Amino acid sequence: MKKRPSGFGIKELPRIVRGEGSYLFDASGKRYLDGSGGPAVFCVGHAHPEVNAAITRQLDAIAYAYRYLFTSSALDSLTEMVLRLCGGHFEDIVYTGSGSEAVESAMKIALQHFAARGLMHKRRFIARRRSWHGNTLGALSISDFAQRRRAFEGSLLDVTFVSAANPYRLPDGVSGDALAEHLAAELDRSIISLGPQNVAAFVFEPIVGAAGGVVPAPEGYAQAIHAVCRKHDVLLIADEVMCGSGRSGTWRALEHDGVVPDIMSIAKGLAGGYIPLAATLVTARVAAPIHDEHGAFMTGHTFTGHTAACAAGLAVQHIVERDHLVDRVRTVGSVFQRTIRDALSRFDEVGDVRGRGFFIGIELVRDRQTRLPFSAERALSFDVAARAFADGLICYPCSGNVDGTAGDTLIIAPPYNASDGELEEIVTKLAGAIDGALSGG
Ligand SMILES: Cc1ncc(COP(=O)(O)O)c(C=O)c1O
Repeated sequence: MKKRPSGFGIKELPRIVRGEGSYLFDASGKRYLDGSGGPAVFCVGHAHPEVNAAITRQLDAIAYAYRYLFTSSALDSLTEMVLRLCGGHFEDIVYTGSGSEAVESAMKIALQHFAARGLMHKRRFIARRRSWHGNTLGALSISDFAQRRRAFEGSLLDVTFVSAANPYRLPDGVSGDALAEHLAAELDRSIISLGPQNVAAFVFEPIVGAAGGVVPAPEGYAQAIHAVCRKHDVLLIADEVMCGSGRSGTWRALEHDGVVPDIMSIAKGLAGGYIPLAATLVTARVAAPIHDEHGAFMTGHTFTGHTAACAAGLAVQHIVERDHLVDRVRTVGSVFQRTIRDALSRFDEVGDVRGRGFFIGIELVRDRQTRLPFSAERALSFDVAARAFADGLICYPCSGNVDGTAGDTLIIAPPYNASDGELEEIVTKLAGAIDGALSGG
């Protein structure tokens, strides 16, 4: 079989042997600091003894019992906890094993909601440019990530895309102050031109992750699009797979905006990478017609609500709550972001440092004034990340945020309990890697 290089440009992948707190260790003993140890997954670090003990206890009792025959203490307690952490705004949770499945479930629940109300024309989704929602065909259909879609074009759902909400890359002739209103008007026009009777849902990432390099929408945006959706009886689906579960300094990212979506997907930080776990949260308003007409959500999988995965999620969320880690992410995050901005200000090629909490994006540009990107062929973000990796820092490189192909960003997303010293080490090594990539040294 033809051997493909890793997507991160690392020729020979090191063999992982163990983790401890914010560090990972390979077979040669080399140590890597988890600056974003995967795409913003590890919120309580690695090999946390309390999480491992909770998983082991569950495995010793029973690893898994089929969700549609049994409930479990782990599942019930996690459900109660997540609903509470979300401020009591949601009524139901459907568990899955990945972010893509959580988004896919969100889409299906939106369709089922309208089917239950007899509105079978409401089938259409609207999503945004420069967004990523996952690899299953439905989730990929609502994603605008050219490279990841290319091989599947022709088989994807027919989705309508509206502009990205990116204050750093404004639409022509639109000021930053007018952006939220401009984008809400665009969404309104799109729904009207498709016919509100045909539109099921608008799907968006409150803070764009991999497709944009951490792009929080402008203030007022979420409220404005929420109002547009309500006006047309279109459901609002927030994809918080990457930005949610505390990563951005509030448990729900949209808490910051004072908006409750109709349906929300979460994943990465839910069980912090210990066992795959994702979830789709549904408000009572959306769930009620489904329960009345169909009884249950038609989107379960064999491993829905896997018992040991729920035990892992419960242990992770218990630590996050007990140790006030979301508060830490919010308060330390703004200082951390400022420190990164200051440390990188000497590079003309660092165009923007942005984000919220421990979810920080760095955009590299050829020219700070024009904000023109480097050529895609140069693969600058991957070069920086490969150099950082060689120096023992993991960060997450992304490309294509400008036009689907060109654009270089790096995501920094450390564990919520990374120490101040570890955060400093991230900044130093990141600056060194950027320096090396730009100078070609
Ligand atoms: C916002 C968002 N949604 C969905 C997904 C898909 O999640 P998964 O890779 O777990 O299927 C991702 C993955 O990066 C994501 O960032």
